[in-house]
Amino acid sequence: MSDVEHKFFTLDDFNLRGRTVLVRVDINSPIDPSTGRILDDHRIRSHLETIKDLENAKVVILAHQSRPGKNDYTTMDQHAIRMSQLLGKRVEYVDGLFDSHVRTRIGNMKSGDKILLENTRFYAEEITLKGESDWNKHKGTHMVSNLAPLVDFFVNDAFAAAHRAQPSLIGFAEVVPNIAGRVMQKELEDIGRAFKENNRPKIAILGGTKIDDSMEVAEHMLSQESMDTILTTGLMGNIFLMASGHDIGKGSVDVLKREFTDYDALVQRAKKILERWGDKIRIPRDIALNVDESRKDVGLEELPSEYPIFDIGLETLMDYTKELINAKLVIVNGPAGVFENEDFSIGTTELFRAVAHSDAFSIIGGGHSVAVLEKLDIEDEINHISTGGGSCINFLAGKPMPGIEALERSKRIFKKGPFQSR
Ligand code: 3PG
Repeated sequence: MSDVEHKFFTLDDFNLRGRTVLVRVDINSPIDPSTGRILDDHRIRSHLETIKDLENAKVVILAHQSRPGKNDYTTMDQHAIRMSQLLGKRVEYVDGLFDSHVRTRIGNMKSGDKILLENTRFYAEEITLKGESDWNKHKGTHMVSNLAPLVDFFVNDAFAAAHRAQPSLIGFAEVVPNIAGRVMQKELEDIGRAFKENNRPKIAILGGTKIDDSMEVAEHMLSQESMDTILTTGLMGNIFLMASGHDIGKGSVDVLKREFTDYDALVQRAKKILERWGDKIRIPRDIALNVDESRKDVGLEELPSEYPIFDIGLETLMDYTKELINAKLVIVNGPAGVFENEDFSIGTTELFRAVAHSDAFSIIGGGHSVAVLEKLDIEDEINHISTGGGSCINFLAGKPMPGIEALERSKRIFKKGPFQSR
């Protein structure tokens, strides 16, 4: 690890042997709602280095899975099983967060023990305080006031959630020293470097399904001029097609309706973006429809269609690939289509390949991306593969990152504290 002086503590700053350490990870994973099976364990694997570095400590792990209302919003028991298999050591799942049986279990821990607590988002305060900027409110939650007295340190390794202000991510900053875990440290070092360098033009490829987040980031990127061009794919592309006057048809609107009850507000937002920065936004000029489970590439003149859009079209793919030729930095967030289905994976895989082969400094983020890159065997050609999707683009857009601010704030507070330093 680097010996650069950071604004935050790292695991190299302390001897944590025998200490009780609360570790916030982001192991939010794709889950099959019918079986509860974890479909992709990349995020779990990413945190193993941090957990291994805490081998002699008592490790209490905090994490979330999905969001209320989603069909993969579930308990953390499967995550504990998978983590145990990957570590080759038991990670015990404890079904609670700060109830008395959890507090007793923490109090009885021995060095080397590892426990994973319940989904933090099962607790109302984690949801109701999301985005709250008053630190005292996070600090004053039941979660923080019950857990903080039981632990000596808080390690934040959840870079993928660092754009969220939630008690489990920022509430411990003032009460125990907060330390960046290995994932967090590497992400901040690598992305931070790309951020500082004068590497224009910068291109962001925004896809995936979290369009509410992406829309906000796009506005910020364009207003702050932190990115020069945005290529839209996935549901983001569909919203921009609607915003530019295309009726995408019932099949695709139904998909949007399922994801966002108020998708029309997103269309209005996209319209405003186009009015202001239309020259910086690229929208698909053809698309691939799912016609009875087969791919059919069509031009926009064939819309509306009763069939849903499942990928960007091949001409759009060519246009977007050309845009990458002169880029100095490219950031990709989210797949371009329903890549799990072979026929509709072309947009995603070919864009990823083009990014890998471009001369630009490349960053690819998002929960699903690593699996795609591994499948294509091009991970080594990407400069930085981020565990974060939303957090990565927020960071690159220069938006506030509460999880990182908490680490820095904690270092300022505890710099001269009475704890054992290495
Ligand atoms: C993610 O998957 O991007 C992180 O786990 C954050 O999840 P959220 O967008 O539901 O807060």
